[in-house]
Amino acid sequence: MDTKRDRTAWLRGGSAKCLSSPGKQNRPCRLVLLGAPGVGKGTQAEMLCEKLGACHLSTGDIFRAAKTLNECERTPTLTAALDYMRKGELVPDETVLALVAERSKCLRCKGGFLLDGFPRTVTQAEALDKLLAKQKVSLNAVVSYELPLEQVVARLGGRRTCPGCKAVFHIDARPPKVAGICDHCGGKLYQREDDRPESIRVRMAAYETSTAPLADFYRKRGLLVSVPAEGTPERILEQTLKALAR
Ligand code: AP5
Repeated sequence: MDTKRDRTAWLRGGSAKCLSSPGKQNRPCRLVLLGAPGVGKGTQAEMLCEKLGACHLSTGDIFRAAKTLNECERTPTLTAALDYMRKGELVPDETVLALVAERSKCLRCKGGFLLDGFPRTVTQAEALDKLLAKQKVSLNAVVSYELPLEQVVARLGGRRTCPGCKAVFHIDARPPKVAGICDHCGGKLYQREDDRPESIRVRMAAYETSTAPLADFYRKRGLLVSVPAEGTPERILEQTLKALAR
């Protein structure tokens, strides 16, 4: 069983520290991944992190980790955030920004980072600019994954996730070695609540209205790199690395 990079500092926030620190990279890669829900950002993030030695910083994973806390450990704000998430709606900017600000030391991770699911609105992107400036680091690129809607929906329908290490599989396209069991930590895979058809519709609408405009935001800053998200994950990884090297 292989192990994934420890992300305790990101998932728990506050004074939590990662159990093992990443190796120092000479040129740490600092990326944002953009794209519709289910396009494959999390899958690419895992593969890219392995290749680049960077840390996968997903805001969705922070919320899913919070779900495993018992009721009295969750703040009312976090409980409200989980409600938005269940329905497929975006969590309010102020909640997301408070959580990311509390974890901003992860932006200085020696291995670099891949932000996945953040920023998701122009307000969040502007706030990220300020957080990066405060940490004296800057983005290398913003990768935007593009895929027709019907293929995105098929990916979401077959997704299975590990509650322990958050690894992502697909029942047809990326099955685990043993059905229903995580390859990395042996956790029992589950289907996300927000992958139900009614939540998927809300998530797609939120993406079109709030997140799609970010492509223009980053294009104007000369950071946007578009990558078609068709084909196998390995092929998309190859295309991403090629596009980043240009
Ligand atoms: P989040 O966790 O960020 O979800 P998302 O953006 O909706 O993206 P997904 O995780 O659904 O998809 P993905 O693109 O990572 O695809 P994956 O790799 O899993 O956010 C969830 C919720 O949290 C939001 O709706 C919101 O409520 C809240 N939230 C989080 N951040 C927020 C923020 N900043 N502001 C406000 N609210 C926030 O792939 C999908 C499936 O396809 C998998 O099964 C995978 O195995 C398969 N697959 C991947 N690649 C391929 C391929 N090439 N071919 C075939 N199958 C593939």
